Amino acid sequence: MARKFFVGGNWKMNGNKNEINNIVNFLKAGPLDANVEVVVGVPSIYLTYTKSILPNNISISAQNAYKVEKGAFTGEISPAMLLDNGIPWVILGHSERRNVFGETDTLIAEKVAHALAAGIKVIACIGEKLEEREAGKTEEVIFLQIKAIADKIKSWDNVVLAYEPVWAIGTGKTATPQQAQEVHNKLRQWFSKNVSPAVSESLRIIYGGSVTADNAKDLAKESDIDGFLVGGASLNSGFVTIINAKQ
Ligand code: PGA
Repeated sequence: MARKFFVGGNWKMNGNKNEINNIVNFLKAGPLDANVEVVVGVPSIYLTYTKSILPNNISISAQNAYKVEKGAFTGEISPAMLLDNGIPWVILGHSERRNVFGETDTLIAEKVAHALAAGIKVIACIGEKLEEREAGKTEEVIFLQIKAIADKIKSWDNVVLAYEPVWAIGTGKTATPQQAQEVHNKLRQWFSKNVSPAVSESLRIIYGGSVTADNAKDLAKESDIDGFLVGGASLNSGFVTIINAKQ
């Protein structure tokens, strides 16, 4: 089964209504490769506004959600609230959630499990820090991150896995296509051994970390790279070139 190419734009804490109008306009103008699944990750307060103006060939994602349906958790939103507003996706485990806000592998796994159980699709992010890569610990770190999730979920059908080396995020330092391919391939082997060959074959593993209109085409040629999660470069019209990188 062919894996449909997936490109997510992670706006992070950026954008206002004017800027969002601009982004939606360049996405509408496209043209976008119809064989690519496109999702934009929007700050929670702009989810419903963005959804109201997005064309229907583009889907929408929250950037975080808590691990229970409701309750005394000031400042949080739940998967149930996202669904109630027609938001089908959530990004979980982004390195900024892990490293700026101190989210642990366990909390992220609980969030992923709850979101899936509630009926939300998940872009689950993993990745090693520079010192971990330099110490030769890349695989150890990312395998622990996915094991935490794998232990808590029953199905990977509604998950897209984003491999985002922390040293490449927002730094302009992209992993080379070979570096990314090598890790994606190792991840696929891990899934084959620890989950199932079928999941290993069908799971989309996307790359994130300083993806730009200039480097997307070369990354997209690698057989185990099924798309991208794009931060900074999703805010301008070069994002269209990234979406079309497979053409
Ligand atoms: P970047 O961010 O493309 O700006 O490096 C990627 C991400 O954090 O998802």
